[in-house]
Amino acid sequence: MKQKTTWACIECGQTSAKWAGQCHACGEWNSIQEEIVKETYRKNAPLPSTPKPLLDIPQDENITRFMTGIGECDRLFGGGLVPGAFLLLGGEPGIGKSTLMLQLAAALSEKGKKVLYVCAEESISQTALRAKRLGLNSKSLLLFSEGSLQVITSAVERESPDVLIIDSIQIIYDETIASTPGSVAQVRGAAHELMRFAKERMMTTFTIGHVTKSGEIAGPRVLEHLVDTVLYFEGDRNQQCRLVRAIKNRFGPTDEIAVFQMDSQGLKEVPNPSQFFLEKRPQPESGTAIIPSIEGSRTLLVEVQALVSQSPFSTPARRSTGIDQNRLSLLVAVLEKRLRLPLFRHDIFVSIVGGLRVLEPGADLGIAAAIVSSLKNVTIPQNTLLVGEVGLTGEIRTAQRIENRLKEAINLGFKRCILPKSQAQGLNQAIQDQISLHFVDHIHQAMHTIFKN
Ligand code: TYD
Ligand code: MG
Repeated sequence: MKQKTTWACIECGQTSAKWAGQCHACGEWNSIQEEIVKETYRKNAPLPSTPKPLLDIPQDENITRFMTGIGECDRLFGGGLVPGAFLLLGGEPGIGKSTLMLQLAAALSEKGKKVLYVCAEESISQTALRAKRLGLNSKSLLLFSEGSLQVITSAVERESPDVLIIDSIQIIYDETIASTPGSVAQVRGAAHELMRFAKERMMTTFTIGHVTKSGEIAGPRVLEHLVDTVLYFEGDRNQQCRLVRAIKNRFGPTDEIAVFQMDSQGLKEVPNPSQFFLEKRPQPESGTAIIPSIEGSRTLLVEVQALVSQSPFSTPARRSTGIDQNRLSLLVAVLEKRLRLPLFRHDIFVSIVGGLRVLEPGADLGIAAAIVSSLKNVTIPQNTLLVGEVGLTGEIRTAQRIENRLKEAINLGFKRCILPKSQAQGLNQAIQDQISLHFVDHIHQAMHTIFKN
């Protein structure tokens, strides 16, 4: 078999003709590795099928999804799992990827599915010990500690599992490729082969993927393009709360999240996340605001905290956790310009409590109010909810799905909501009766209304 050597970046997967100390695509140092490309690949590929007219293609309307029995996961996947789906789960080390997969494997086997769990990173006894600690004892769960792709595929042929779990793709190696496990060529090769297997046998396959320093799923970017679903563990591993977000999903909505709590019994579902995020909140303090965030099909109320303190440096710090740094810079600029606040002399730190990442613009007003609240050292009145996008001229713009946000606020006992004026029309009367609504159209008016009493 003729082989050719090229070079590829382990961080971003960019290939190049020669070695370099730094990847010119992602800028990472010492990340370029040798990869061997088999030139015979094309010859082994199956004969191409012929194109068909759209109307002749049988409709796969009744894809029979199957439930895992873990409610949060079923919702995350878009209403259960699809046979033959290929899912990738990424996240920091120690965040709970193996724990979730083991619990999912046990839940599926309890539902009568045959599950093969390839625990290539740990020994069988280590995994069995963990399963015991988690109180899992299912009969149709097979464990296999193996890294060779060929051995794994022959085990799959022998056992014909309904669900295959690979922990992790970075450890799997194709014996016919000379590169080391975890290299771009190996990860790409193994993923393609496993994908082919999954589709051919209608075997739902999960693979765990490591993340890079910058928090992206390691190995070739093509991995994310290849798979049907990309799931990502968010949150802080030092906190109890763990969130799994569907970043991409060919079989369901994206941005859906599952919320779990890690304790000595593994990951537990959190049935009412808003309550969970807000429960440890003492009396309101300056610099905190409550915002409703739309996450997939549901609304979560979360607390945003800001700390604004005088900076000893000429270039003050702007740091954010859980919100986009650029969004923070933009909001600070709007507050400086439109409200004439002296923020240029202050360091600003903003974070979302509980480890959630809030990326939707409807959170802008809450973030801006938390900053003002900390700067002026005045609290936002209790049980007040803030919704609205802030535009560059300081205008407050429409936030999507306002009724869902208000309903969640009412459920949690909120009494007052500051929201965009553009949304005054057509609001359900029953909602209006249960919460006092204050419509605002400019940041100036909004701040006045928020801090009025
Ligand atoms: P793990 O699932 O191995 O993480 P990953 O596969 O993402 O690297 O473990 C996650 C962490 O959770 C680990 O540090 C130990 C902790 N943990 C618990 O707190 N309770 C438990 O029941 C289990 C199994 C793990
Ligand atoms: Mg692990």
